[in-house]
Amino acid sequence: MAVKKTDLAVSIGDWKLKNPIMTASGTFGYGEEFADYLDVDSLGAIVVKGISLLPRTGNPPPRVVETSCGMLNAIGLENVGLERFISEKIPIFEKYKTGVVANILGDSIDDYCRLAERLSDTSITAIEVNISCPNVKKGGVAFGTDPKMAYDITRAVRKKCSKPLIIKLTPNVTDITAIALAAEEGGADAVSLINTLLGMAIDIKSRRPKLANVVGGLSGPAIKPIALRMVWQVCNKVTIPVIGIGGISRVEDVLEFLLAGATAVQIGTANLVDPNVAGELVVKLTAYLQENKIENIGQLIGSLEV
Ligand SMILES: Cc1cc2nc3c(=O)[nH]c(=O)nc-3n(C[C@H](O)[C@H](O)[C@H](O)COP(=O)(O)O)c2cc1C
Repeated sequence: MAVKKTDLAVSIGDWKLKNPIMTASGTFGYGEEFADYLDVDSLGAIVVKGISLLPRTGNPPPRVVETSCGMLNAIGLENVGLERFISEKIPIFEKYKTGVVANILGDSIDDYCRLAERLSDTSITAIEVNISCPNVKKGGVAFGTDPKMAYDITRAVRKKCSKPLIIKLTPNVTDITAIALAAEEGGADAVSLINTLLGMAIDIKSRRPKLANVVGGLSGPAIKPIALRMVWQVCNKVTIPVIGIGGISRVEDVLEFLLAGATAVQIGTANLVDPNVAGELVVKLTAYLQENKIENIGQLIGSLEV
């Protein structure tokens, strides 16, 4: 008997993704670095390295440290800046037959608005707003740690952004659902979570921090249970799609996030271990649906029984 075709397509607002597997910002370069290892077009979408108005050199080394079941990074959002992004990187993206999401970062609401406005005039598919950055004007408190600030930035960017708008949440808060609700109220089409958890590591011989920046962001399998818990909590509160991120490397991880209610997932640190992991996850997810006779991925999303 012929196997029925499985439908892996998911939607974020009006944007239809052929499958829910995306890459996470900062772990997949601009896609071209991975093109020898996997078919970028097989992915639901790629999220490229965070971009600011002006180029940033990032933090001094050492900027990356391995930890138990994960890693710490303090790259400091190094990037080529908006103008080079538009002139050098967007022409590369135009060759892809999958969605390309620009991840933006800034020090003020005005920075974010200018980025969103310029990028709305390009062929970029969607915009993801990294609100883990410190609001320099408000004394360095991250936009994503205060519901009022999260609402204000989402609302302001929404007005300038004609593309699907994703707000990326930080887990370094007491109640992530309050921030997610603020982003929804501000007009976001989706929220993505989680960004890295703040951590540190010490070299006991030199008695110095292992990172020059002292603290850094923890990612990888170590954070998966926290990410999954936060995604589940947020899915129970908001009505917009939720994109799950955090320690995903196996098809079982993808399934856990989908069951918890995530519409799509992003693969981060796992790309640094196996550059083909995201491509393999598409294949394995398709096989899982076929083997279990699930015709439509929507049947899995949010089907957790508590
Ligand atoms: C080296 C590195 C660089 C990152 N750069 C960014 C970035 O520029 N913007 C952003 O929103 N998140 C950035 N992240 C966070 C990831 O996109 C992701 O949210 C986080 O690592 C958790 O997912 P994972 O455990 O699958 O890596 C970065 C993570 C790593 C490890």
